[in-house]
Amino acid sequence: MLLLRAAAARLQHSPWSLATTPATCARLLASAPATSAPACGSSPGLPAAYRAMSSAAAMDTPSIISMINQDHAKFKSLWNEYQGPNMNGEMKQKLGWALIREIAMHSSAEEEVMYPEVRKRLGGEAADTLLGQDGHQHLKDLLTELDRMTVEKDGEAAYTAKLKEAMDHLYHHIDDEEKKFWPQFEALPGVDADLLSHLGKKFEGAKAHAVTRPHPWAPNKPPLNVIANMATAPLDAAADMWRFAGHPPTM
Ligand SMILES: [Fe+2]
Ligand SMILES: [Fe+2]
Repeated sequence: MLLLRAAAARLQHSPWSLATTPATCARLLASAPATSAPACGSSPGLPAAYRAMSSAAAMDTPSIISMINQDHAKFKSLWNEYQGPNMNGEMKQKLGWALIREIAMHSSAEEEVMYPEVRKRLGGEAADTLLGQDGHQHLKDLLTELDRMTVEKDGEAAYTAKLKEAMDHLYHHIDDEEKKFWPQFEALPGVDADLLSHLGKKFEGAKAHAVTRPHPWAPNKPPLNVIANMATAPLDAAADMWRFAGHPPTM
C-alpha cells in the first residue's frame, strides 16, 4: 500500500500530471517528443505559442551531453577525493555511499533518456554495448557488491579494493561514452543544439525521479525501466534517509 501511495505521489509530480500554466507548458513541451506532448490549455492558439516558447526555454537548457559529461567529472572528482591524503574510514564510507548514489541516478537517467535515443539513431548494437557487460550491467553488479559492504564491517582495504574495481570499470565506460559514442551521435543528421537541449531537459527530469541504488536485475529499457524506477525509487529514498542521517547529498 505504501509503495502504491509513493508511486501515486510520484505520478502526481510526474511532468505529465498537470500542465496548466504557460511556464509549466513551456517546460513540458520543451521536454516532450512531438507525438506525446501534453495538452496545454483549451485555446486552439495556445499549443503553437507554447511550443515557440518551449524552443526558447529549451535553448536555455544545456546539452544532454554536457550534463552527462559533467556528471562524469563529478565521479572522478569524488574518487580523487577518496584517494586523497588525510581521509579516515568514516570519510571514505560517506564518499563511497555518495558515489553509489550519484552513479545509480546517472545510469538510470541515461537509460531513460539517452540510450533510447542512441538506440533510435545509432542503432541497437550501440545501445546494447552501453547497457551490457561492457557498460552498465557489470558496473551495477560491482556497485551492488560494494553496497553490501561497509568500511567498518569489511575493512578499509577490502572496501577500497571493491570501489576501485567499480571505478576502473566506470572510467572505461566513461571513455567509451565520451570518446566513441557521443561524437558519433553528435555527428548524425538531425542531432542539433535544439535536440540536445530538449534531451538535457528530459535527463534533468529523469534524474529527479531516479533510483539511488544499483538494481542489476531491474529492466533497463523503456517503458519497463520507467515503471520499475517509479516503484523502487521511494524505497531507495527511504533507505538513503537512514544511510545519510536524513540528509542525502545533493550534487
Ligand atoms: Fe555516463
Ligand atoms: Fe553510461
